[in-house]
Amino acid sequence: MRSITIGESTFSCQPDETVLETLLRENVKVPNGCRQGLCQACLMRSLDNSPPASAQVGLKDTLQKQKYFLACVCRPERNMTVALPNQQGASIEAGVIKKQRLTPDIIRLVLEYQTPFNFFAGQFVNLKRADGLTRSYSIANIPKNDNILEFHIRRLPNGQFSSWVHDELEPGAQLTLSEAQGSCHYLSGRAEQPLMLIGTGSGLAPLYGILADALAQDHSGPIHLYHGSRDLNGLYFVEEMRELAAEFDNFHYTSCVSGDASESDHVKGRAHDIALSSIETLKGWRVFLCGHPEMVNQSKRMAFMKGASIADIYADAFHVMQDKK
Ligand SMILES: Cc1cc2nc3c(=O)[nH]c(=O)nc-3n(C[C@H](O)[C@H](O)[C@H](O)COP(=O)(O)OP(=O)(O)OC[C@H]3O[C@@H](n4cnc5c(N)ncnc54)[C@H](O)[C@@H]3O)c2cc1C
Ligand code: FES
Repeated sequence: MRSITIGESTFSCQPDETVLETLLRENVKVPNGCRQGLCQACLMRSLDNSPPASAQVGLKDTLQKQKYFLACVCRPERNMTVALPNQQGASIEAGVIKKQRLTPDIIRLVLEYQTPFNFFAGQFVNLKRADGLTRSYSIANIPKNDNILEFHIRRLPNGQFSSWVHDELEPGAQLTLSEAQGSCHYLSGRAEQPLMLIGTGSGLAPLYGILADALAQDHSGPIHLYHGSRDLNGLYFVEEMRELAAEFDNFHYTSCVSGDASESDHVKGRAHDIALSSIETLKGWRVFLCGHPEMVNQSKRMAFMKGASIADIYADAFHVMQDKK
């Protein structure tokens, strides 16, 4: 069994435990979100031994060199003395200026930040409320000069953060943001390349941002966006997307319903099945996949099999925290 020392206290880490699990069990407050090594909310630093390499995957090399690691995926290989980072990247205050219902389960949350903040539409930030509860959400708008960030937040049954956003968070309230993270965003440079965007539920948020960015940067290649939901209630921005498709010749939009969609003008089936069966080859395409982790993982494989290069597949799976109970 390994020991974890933090400040004046030392705790035993059980063989199957992560550093995060040990510290939370001992009531040490460590910010956390996805608990799967993705959101980087649980960043910590080792003050003695190097952390296992598997706990540093995805961290900038400068952070790796300074022995930063992700506590939620760190199973210590030897005893560790650890600390919370004094200043984990940028920490920005933002105020809620608008809350708008998009579907019965999805809210559009608009925040205004006061200090300089760099981001690409489609990246995600960790939103933290006053008691430290932190979750990741994708940015749905492109940077302008208005200091605005837009998120689409789906309520999960009994979900702590999403239920709080839906039921309690009101305009005027303040939240703390991490710096923007992730590589799921549009990059200019290959304007003729065909783009395939596939999302489910609030997975439209990053895709909406990526689409807006591509159109704003005069992307000339075809852009296909498939948005899927189990039922009609889960689709949103349908009219807006259809208007964009009418305005831009190279933009094609398909809304998909996998459950009962009789007498609707949406395509019946799962968005990724429909999208990927409609195209013979994805060789040379750039592919963006956002939303349900199962859909994202399946689509990644399917897109690769259809010829897309791994380097051209960008994905954000909306993993939710895994509770051991
Ligand atoms: C990179 C990234 C980007 C994301 N972007 C978005 C986005 O743009 N929009 C969006 O809506 N979401 C997004 N997510 C998901 C988001 O971060 C949250 O995971 C999600 O909102 C759920 O958080 P929560 O606190 O509401 O739920 P949690 O409290 O974390 O609960 C998650 C689920 O587990 C269940 N659960 C909780 N505790 C228990 C228990 N003890 N036993 C059994 N079940 C339990 C809950 O019922 C719930 O269904 C993103 C995730 C990632 C990793
Ligand atoms: S990376 Fe550890 S909680 Fe998200």
